[in-house]
Amino acid sequence: MDERLVSGAVLGGEAAFEPSLRPQSLQEYIGQNQVKENLKVFIEAAKLRQETLDHVLLYGPPGLGKTTLAAVIANEMGVKLRATSGPALERPGDLAALLASLEPGDVLFIDEIHRLPRPVEEVLYPAMEDYCLDITIGKGPDARSLRLDLPPFTLVGATTRAGALSAPLRDRFGVISRLEYYRVDELVQIVERTAALLHMAVAREAAFELARRARGTPRIANRLLRRVRDFAQVRGEAEISLPLAVEALERLQVDRLGLDHIDHKLLTAMIEKFAGGPVGLETIAAVIGEEAQTIEEVYEPYLLQIGLLQRTPRGRVVTPAAYAHLGMEVPKQ
Ligand SMILES: Nc1ncnc2c1ncn2[C@@H]1O[C@H](COP(=O)(O)OP(=O)(O)O)[C@@H](O)[C@H]1O
Ligand SMILES: [Mg+2]
Repeated sequence: MDERLVSGAVLGGEAAFEPSLRPQSLQEYIGQNQVKENLKVFIEAAKLRQETLDHVLLYGPPGLGKTTLAAVIANEMGVKLRATSGPALERPGDLAALLASLEPGDVLFIDEIHRLPRPVEEVLYPAMEDYCLDITIGKGPDARSLRLDLPPFTLVGATTRAGALSAPLRDRFGVISRLEYYRVDELVQIVERTAALLHMAVAREAAFELARRARGTPRIANRLLRRVRDFAQVRGEAEISLPLAVEALERLQVDRLGLDHIDHKLLTAMIEKFAGGPVGLETIAAVIGEEAQTIEEVYEPYLLQIGLLQRTPRGRVVTPAAYAHLGMEVPKQ
């Protein structure tokens, strides 16, 4: 299950409102046009044939809308969504019980599917391919194998690391879609949509500024909007204006490109301690005190995308654009 949904449900607070911000249909889902166009065709075709939709794998950095899209798929197919996650399915029996409880056509959403334990993953193979469960009863020489039929279902898997998925699992998905970072104009639409849902007025230039600093990521755009709204409300301002947005973003230490203090720490450490690189991921992680996996999945993809960082066979390298952004001089060779 989406951690944010879980903690929201348990703790209340603003995370509890998160689901209401999620688009419910493909029509409402902003951006990702290619993924959407394709899914629209596959969904329509499956409905025409009165079949279930083929299994779908969604991958891409956190916050780009994978969980949201899984729910949209279920809505569009007119079926129920059952959600779980790789780490939550500890034993093969956990998954078997879940599969056996599905109703025909249901969407089973497995978040962080790359973290499924191997024995659990093996339960998925026949389930995905033939809609059945292979169960072993008894132990040793008396053990018997039993095949149990399952209702047809659609598996939607989500992962931030498609490369971490085993080949047999990846091969069983009929549709594999990569979500891309959003364009600024798409993020403007998302900010304006969220502001409307939160009953908050936001000037167009302010929405643009938030969008520009959201690292191509709807979740970050929504988070920045909420924080800026806090500043507006405390000041008693009815509308989020551009100056207010800029001031709030500066106080949040989100710079013009959307980089936060960890991005700055990372780039600065690479420049000051390693002359801009090449330097290995583990080394950077140790130096700035962050987990290598977090850097690889959360920070680095965006820095690569906007060209401040490059990957080389010998490690990560800071680009001249990064020096320029930090107001530092590129060292002479
Ligand atoms: N295409 C989109 N249009 C509008 N809002 C979106 C879109 N994609 C994501 N969001 C918003 O961003 C938030 C994060 O999306 P989520 O699906 O949880 O990302 P992921 O599962 O990829 O980490 C959601 O709460 C949702 O409101
Ligand atoms: Mg998610």
